[in-house]
Amino acid sequence: MRCYHPQERRRYASMLSTPEVLRRTGGKPVKSIIYDEQTIAARVEEMGVEIADAYAADEPLLVLGLLKGSFIFLSDLVRHIPRPLHVDFIVASSYGSGTTSSGVVNLLYDPSTLLEGKHIILVEDIVDSGTTVSRLVPMLEERGPKSLEICTLLHKHIAAHLVREPKWVGFDAPNEFLIGYGLDHSEDFRNLPFIGSL
Ligand code: IMP
Ligand code: MG
Repeated sequence: MRCYHPQERRRYASMLSTPEVLRRTGGKPVKSIIYDEQTIAARVEEMGVEIADAYAADEPLLVLGLLKGSFIFLSDLVRHIPRPLHVDFIVASSYGSGTTSSGVVNLLYDPSTLLEGKHIILVEDIVDSGTTVSRLVPMLEERGPKSLEICTLLHKHIAAHLVREPKWVGFDAPNEFLIGYGLDHSEDFRNLPFIGSL
């Protein structure tokens, strides 16, 4: 669980202007790399093992990814959870095209999978204001899962009130607008292999 020290950030700064990165961003500059590919991969692997260890092997587990932001994290994570599981998705949007939360959560896709009697892990890319989690948890609880936990790659720890703290957190993130590894700014940058700040 780390965030790069300013000195380390400078070391990674040289990666930001490589032709490979600029090709992905369409020439748009990224301010700094917060978590590089190797750091993310190592942490995701650890999280997968921790998650597998937390559930009895014979009980049904459903990993529910919150789209779109979690799509890369979720696909890496489930491959590191060495036990049977099912995957489904939920689509909610709380951000418009900017960098601040609108405070409104819209459900755009509701999973058809039955949640009743299953262990559910809601997978988020990032917990920021906490609005999304606070809105989704009660809604999913109504469907009678055996348990419901939140797994987030990033947690900014700025939410004033969270109905439930995530059980699994990849990294305690700085309070900056982050992009890459699934996270977007106006739909750009999701395909960056690292997490950077704008
Ligand atoms: P929250 O409801 O404010 O906790 O955040 C909801 C969603 O906003 C997250 O799942 C992300 O998709 C998006 N979001 C929040 N912070 C950031 C950020 O720093 N970069 C990119 N997307 C973000
Ligand atoms: Mg987004």
